[in-house]
Amino acid sequence: MSSTATSSPKTFRVKSFGCQMNVYDGERMAELLAAEGMSAAGDGDDADLVVLNTCHIREKATEKVYSDIGRLRREDGSAPMIAVAGCVAQAEGEEIMTRAPSVKVVVGPQSYHRLPEMVAEAASGKRATETDMPAEAKFAALPKRRKSAPTAFLTVQEGCDKFCTYCVVPYTRGAEISRPFADLIEEAKLLVAGGAREITLLGQNVNAWTGEDDKGRSIGLDGLARALAADPDLKRIRYTTSHPNDMTDGLIAAHAELEKLMPFLHLPVQAGSDRVLKAMNRSHTADSYLKVLDRIRAARPDIALSGDFIVGFPGETDAEFEETLRLVDAVGYAQAFSFKYSARPGTPAATMPDHVPAAVMDERLQRLQAALNRDQLAFNQGSVGKTCEVLVERKGKHPGQWLGKSPWLQSVHFVGEAEIGQMVTVKLVEAGPNSLAGQLV
Ligand code: 5AD
Ligand code: SF4
Repeated sequence: MSSTATSSPKTFRVKSFGCQMNVYDGERMAELLAAEGMSAAGDGDDADLVVLNTCHIREKATEKVYSDIGRLRREDGSAPMIAVAGCVAQAEGEEIMTRAPSVKVVVGPQSYHRLPEMVAEAASGKRATETDMPAEAKFAALPKRRKSAPTAFLTVQEGCDKFCTYCVVPYTRGAEISRPFADLIEEAKLLVAGGAREITLLGQNVNAWTGEDDKGRSIGLDGLARALAADPDLKRIRYTTSHPNDMTDGLIAAHAELEKLMPFLHLPVQAGSDRVLKAMNRSHTADSYLKVLDRIRAARPDIALSGDFIVGFPGETDAEFEETLRLVDAVGYAQAFSFKYSARPGTPAATMPDHVPAAVMDERLQRLQAALNRDQLAFNQGSVGKTCEVLVERKGKHPGQWLGKSPWLQSVHFVGEAEIGQMVTVKLVEAGPNSLAGQLV
């Protein structure tokens, strides 16, 4: 294997896969490299350094990393310096180093503040790996935020202590930690100063966030949302992903009181059968989940609900899958994500008996997605005739067309005078499965 020195990279590209936390981490890595004097490669240009910010949640996501590494080889046989970051790096760092000699840097999600020095090491001919999971903040070592799109992500909480039996997150992202209140207020201020009008608070268990406010009082995510809402230039607050068991009374009440807290809740349920939920170690039942939704609907009747589902968890019977469909019918989701169960090495479910055949999983996923798509269209159709605010995010494909989001996180397109970052009032006039047409009022 060659360990020859390459020159220091001058341009970079960060490619993020998977969840929104990875999008956030990818932005921070880009800022970090830019602060070292490197510049982002233009669209279609070769980059000297490519950072693959990977996802390990399902098998397909992992396989993609290896095919991407292969595809980075240029026509003349050379390759950029490749750094693998994110959860695949954390889980399979050593294997990547053996399987993919072109990878020079492997850095886990808790260590990416060290990326520049690792890149320098790699440029001097040494391959560098860092997958420690120190609890102390990498955040302090990152450069301050500057520019922002109208919508920004802010990671407030990381890691997970829930140990759902199918999930790798507790192993790749480590134990639950909440970032300190003061740091978050400061980062949010900088994002807003840089142009953000909407902030989505991120965490694997974002509603488990806890902290102490500036007066030393213990607060939860609702307290943080209240403090952020005090900034007049910040118009909207969202948060994701939540666990049903951490939906506190305070957070539910905040949905009734805080106008800037958008009427949208992503609350994964995974399955509708209590036996399956128990085997998944979800620590809620179908009924207790529905009761949480009743409380949130009482606080905010127009709330749009979203969820995650897994079909074909080991041992799931046809009758148990039908219970998932019944739960979907009972909820009426505005949108949702659904996946086939994917056995992840090292998780308890991977060694459970009675894995469900692929063909059965395919059929269940199709039926579930048909039901979810039906409900999504119905939700969008139910919005037609409403007048709402849209935060303008970008230009559309057609002349004079703009794209943005409704309070319920629906994509809305409209034609007229507007600018990026503006809040406009729009009447929703037509609904499709994935977007709505609006008219400026
Ligand atoms: N197989 C399939 N889906 C999974 N998810 C997490 N782990 C797995 C797995 N092993 C899904 C869950 C979770 C979402 C982020 O990914 O639905 O909520
Ligand atoms: Fe994974 Fe469960 Fe934690 Fe969500 S709550 S990150 S599914 S272990």
